[in-house]
Amino acid sequence: MNISFVLNDKSVTTFQNNSTVLLDLIRNEYNLTGTKEGCREGDCGACSVLIGSYKDGKMIYDCINSCLLPINAVIGNHVVTVEGLNQSELSLVQSHYVDNYASQCGFCTPGIIISITNYLLGNYKYNLRDAKDSIVGNLCRCTGHVSIIESLKSLLEDLNDKSDGEEHLSYLIRKRVIPDYFLRIPELISKLTISNESTDEINGKSFLVSGGTDIYVQKQDELYQAAVSFIDSNDYEENIYISEDKCFFKASTTINQIMNSNIMSSIIPDINNYLRLFGSNQIRNRATVGGNIVNASPIADFTSILLALNAEVHLLKNKKERKIPLKDFFIAHKKFDLSENEIVEKVSFPLPEKNFFFNYEKVSKREYLDIASVNTSAMIIVSENFIDHITVSAGGVAPIPLVLRKFSEFMTGKYFSDDILIRAMNSVDEEISPISDIRGSAEYKRLLLKKLIQCHFLKFFPDKIETEIL
Ligand code: FES
Ligand code: FES
Repeated sequence: MNISFVLNDKSVTTFQNNSTVLLDLIRNEYNLTGTKEGCREGDCGACSVLIGSYKDGKMIYDCINSCLLPINAVIGNHVVTVEGLNQSELSLVQSHYVDNYASQCGFCTPGIIISITNYLLGNYKYNLRDAKDSIVGNLCRCTGHVSIIESLKSLLEDLNDKSDGEEHLSYLIRKRVIPDYFLRIPELISKLTISNESTDEINGKSFLVSGGTDIYVQKQDELYQAAVSFIDSNDYEENIYISEDKCFFKASTTINQIMNSNIMSSIIPDINNYLRLFGSNQIRNRATVGGNIVNASPIADFTSILLALNAEVHLLKNKKERKIPLKDFFIAHKKFDLSENEIVEKVSFPLPEKNFFFNYEKVSKREYLDIASVNTSAMIIVSENFIDHITVSAGGVAPIPLVLRKFSEFMTGKYFSDDILIRAMNSVDEEISPISDIRGSAEYKRLLLKKLIQCHFLKFFPDKIETEIL
């Protein structure tokens, strides 16, 4: 298919198999080898690039791992590689990096420079905590992070002279953060010729992908030999909405769109603290709600949250909608209730009543950016210690993501006490069937889940828990 986009300061059009990933295109076709290939799994950030889209009169940039980005997603957008930051001298970010000895072998450096530049582009006020957060998806194996953080500190000190009313892009150009061609990008984008070709099948195979942060790791070779189409949308206001008494996510909603959504933070004030644990900024910019559900991983993080919220999946086939509770969608390991040509269109959950509390717990080998050993979410409606309703989900302890039905039913309609919790815990062992694997023994996961369930109740009833569950 023909792919037209703006690459750094030029418009380009190329004919490609649409399952090619952007990293291969920019390195092999355009010789832009500053973007590095490290893990090719979304873990190291060496392949980070900026993807800019034009909306409501301005450019919005996201930092993305190009090793997992199907080129289809860049049509009509602006792609910035590290070469696209070149100016007559080093950019401001690069100068501070060099002055603080933050680069040794240099393999990770282009990706980190891109991530920091993305942070400066996307925010009007800067602080060290958020600046450090912007590079959590970039691993450096040899320099050591102290000098990288020193470079961030001196960079931020150098960015305190914005005059009142100075336009943000103009300021960043004046400070040499980005070159001045960034001002011409909306015009270049408006002149692109976009074609909407699609291929039904190649070699008798076709895939419909939303996000792709896991399938492009697991099945990249298979995708290259098939027709791939995508569900994508960078409009979070369209993707997340309330209708009647429900909150809806379209399948293409990304995790970062949820983090930026006022709707979700008004329902679950701590949502961003939970979602921060899911993956790096680059991954959260691509990973979607629909992809998380259909990937059907037993430890899917967002599915855990949706299960506890009693979500429903809205399926679509030949314009006919079918609804099914998410807890009944998963049938067996990686198998779910979806017929041929039926797709997950959206997911919804009932807006909570008053006295609603929510908590999410996850334990993994590394605190951030890691796959859960066990995760669990709990949604409770409680008044004066009386549990009107509770739903607890559990991941990593069975072939599918689970709602702990017996546990939740036992706790509902009771006054909370230590004794009630201990009695309810007896049913947990019957409901789960963990296996021993790289993330822990079956016995460890059983114990861990019970400890994490206890954490929910420590948060909901901080003064009422006295006994430790063993
Ligand atoms: Fe490591 Fe892409 S090569 S995240
Ligand atoms: Fe070598 Fe970062 S400078 S990996």
